[in-house]
Amino acid sequence: MVERKLLRDKVAIVTGAGSGIGESIARRYVEEGALLLAIDLQAPGFAPHDGRVAMLALDITESDAPARIRDEVERRFGRLDILVNNAGICQPGSIEDQTAESWARTLAVNVTAPFLITQALVPLLQDSKAGRIINLGSIMSDFGGPDLCAYGTSKHAMAGFTKSLACDLGRYGITANYLQPGSIWSAMSRPHMANPDFLRYWETKTPLGRIGDPEDVAAPAVFLATDEAKFITGAGIRVCGGAMASF
Ligand SMILES: NC(=O)c1ccc[n+]([C@@H]2O[C@H](COP(=O)([O-])OP(=O)(O)OC[C@H]3O[C@@H](n4cnc5c(N)ncnc54)[C@H](O)[C@@H]3O)[C@@H](O)[C@H]2O)c1
Repeated sequence: MVERKLLRDKVAIVTGAGSGIGESIARRYVEEGALLLAIDLQAPGFAPHDGRVAMLALDITESDAPARIRDEVERRFGRLDILVNNAGICQPGSIEDQTAESWARTLAVNVTAPFLITQALVPLLQDSKAGRIINLGSIMSDFGGPDLCAYGTSKHAMAGFTKSLACDLGRYGITANYLQPGSIWSAMSRPHMANPDFLRYWETKTPLGRIGDPEDVAAPAVFLATDEAKFITGAGIRVCGGAMASF
């Protein structure tokens, strides 16, 4: 019997594939048969999969990053079906103490780079006829919170950006959606989780009674990339264990 792979021979790009949620999405995509361009500041540590995984070490905010990414995916695979704008940073700060530099860096990584990279890759996604764009928002795409001045703004922006993409690109059969993780174990969240009060708050706020794992976010990232999700676009999907089901 032929093993059913959900993303057989689809070509995918995942940014921030070196750790946490991005790494988990990248691994699931490869397991599901995709060809992958994995991008991070340092080359993500994937074992070579018979030429099915390419790696690119770059800072997505560099001015030549969009062109380098487009050139690399064309050189390695000649086409593109799925773009996951996952790389992100969180530099906590309130209106009183978030510096202008921190604000600018957060928006550069979390918003402007995904915009420019997506823009560079739209022509390849148009050729796919079933292109998929999956952006990483957050539950903070819908809500505010203390010390999230720049981060919260950036994640609200990703919601608006994604809906705009859905409207612009639907005519090409390209869908654009964003995932909204709650509290997920990762390098980004671990310093916050070290605070027992923070950890307990999110464990008890979440009806499922636990912090999420990166794999919990990778699963809907697979689904949104499949043909099964072809009529879902412009949507934000909360992956928060129900933390936002009540207040
Ligand atoms: N962990 C959570 O609780 C949580 C919750 C909501 C949303 N998110 C979002 O999920 C995404 C992934 O976060 P994570 O928790 O896995 O964090 P993480 O820190 O584990 O991973 C982020 C990855 O992005 C890479 N990266 C950062 N800046 C980059 C740049 N300029 N160029 C290239 N790569 C860069 C990092 O090197 C890192 O490997 C982010 O967009 C984040 O905002 C995470």
